Amino acid sequence: MTTYSSYVFTTMDYHGLLHSLADNWTSLAVAITTLILGWLFYVQRSKRPYAGIPVLSADRNEYLQDGRGLLERGKQYPSCFQVQTGTNWKIVVPNRFAQELKNHPDLSFNDAHARDSFTSYPGLQPFREILENDTFIQEVVRKKLTQSLGLITAGLVEETLLTYRDLFGESKEWQTRVIKTDVQDIIARLSSRVFLGLDLCRNQEWLNITKNYTYSSFEAISELRSLHALTRPFMQWFSKNCTQARLYYKKAQVLIQPVVDRRRAQVQAESSEGEGSSKTSDAIGWMVECARGRNIDYAAAQLSFSLAAIHLSSETMTMCLLQLCDMPEVIKPLREECRAVLSEHGWTKQALQDMKLLDSFMRECQRTRDLLATSMLRFAKVPVKLSDGIVIPRGSTLMVMNDWAHSSDHFPNADKFDMGRFAKLRERPGEQNQHLFSTPSADQMGWGFGEHACPGRFFASNEIKIALCILLLEYDFEP
Ligand code: HEM
Repeated sequence: MTTYSSYVFTTMDYHGLLHSLADNWTSLAVAITTLILGWLFYVQRSKRPYAGIPVLSADRNEYLQDGRGLLERGKQYPSCFQVQTGTNWKIVVPNRFAQELKNHPDLSFNDAHARDSFTSYPGLQPFREILENDTFIQEVVRKKLTQSLGLITAGLVEETLLTYRDLFGESKEWQTRVIKTDVQDIIARLSSRVFLGLDLCRNQEWLNITKNYTYSSFEAISELRSLHALTRPFMQWFSKNCTQARLYYKKAQVLIQPVVDRRRAQVQAESSEGEGSSKTSDAIGWMVECARGRNIDYAAAQLSFSLAAIHLSSETMTMCLLQLCDMPEVIKPLREECRAVLSEHGWTKQALQDMKLLDSFMRECQRTRDLLATSMLRFAKVPVKLSDGIVIPRGSTLMVMNDWAHSSDHFPNADKFDMGRFAKLRERPGEQNQHLFSTPSADQMGWGFGEHACPGRFFASNEIKIALCILLLEYDFEP
């Protein structure tokens, strides 16, 4: 039994304790001062531009408020230039270097994005899951999702029909709709059908989490970028967007963990009975199969699918719908193609491949209404020399201009929207499998370019095609 006396210090103990406390406090003060000085040195240093590369703008607000306008002005330089962004100096590299940088072993995708996305902040774990967990998400998308596209087509079609019925109802009357919010709902539901399966894809709570987490986390990141580096660690606790990101992440954990546990048990039971894993057609099953002993935060991983899938897929589908509203004359030929192809093949992989005009239309939307003014954000692990002699310094971050898409040197009549532009290119001998919506290229880097080009592009292409095709066949719309 512990007696009271065992808690009483002797005078000697007391002095010893005071000394050791004083020592500890001194060490602590030294450590904190060193940290603060180191941090100030780092912040001061990161304010300085890199030597030897022209500076276009040292005012981070200019980039934050009118990045596109700023980059346009940067074209006056014959080669690279640098701008101060919300997080650090970025070296902007002309589009002509995309090819030579695309698989460069010394340029890191993960390091560049981790630095810009505050992955160590609570609530932003899903970004960490994409960027730091040893390419886990990339493997799940490349090896499992893309190879299961045939298997999930029927589910996507069924979910699209149900989603449209729930959103638009059965009435034949005209309705006024806000495209962007409808599209976010559609994409959240279709993506959830594939990533979570029937268990949760129609659960309103999950749909709110997946959409709201995506938007509040991106907002949180851009808010953090606009703050001074020294204040970020404190201000994140008072920011509404950061607080919401933390809250939705917590809610996702509560909602998803039981589903994950159930699916894990099922997948493990199937594999111990020797059944093939190809029967799995949702991302929880794929993640369990790809984990191979790795410690996976499944809620964060699910939200990282939402981040990757919902934001840019919704923007892309919104662009396509805006184009249909701006150019109603393209609706008829697209509708005819969808009808003809489906009557021949039904909803098969072949049908999606044969919707060549729709595919070309989507690529032309991506070209003309480009979402990304720059692409290929990369961190230089060592100095990287470009073919024109310019050296990208070690420790710097670069991004490549995505402006060839608007250049008449690359696309005849580049400023004209030509729905059949890429379908015609595919008719040239040997090019029938090129110029697809899902093909990354240096003159159209909406998917990025090189070894990190978006692995979700085949899924995104099918998902948007199905959603557009059903909308074209079942609904009329006008601006
Ligand atoms: C229209 C929709 C989409 C667009 C426009 C898009 C675009 C991009 C871009 C520009 C990149 C960076 C590539 C680079 O820097 O070279 C990227 C990376 C990535 N995307 Fe997508 N994406 C879309 C949909 C998706 C979907 C649906 C998924 C998942 C199912 C996904 C998963 C990823 C992943 C995991 C990466 C990181 C690749 C890596 O680390 O190598 N994306 N995406």
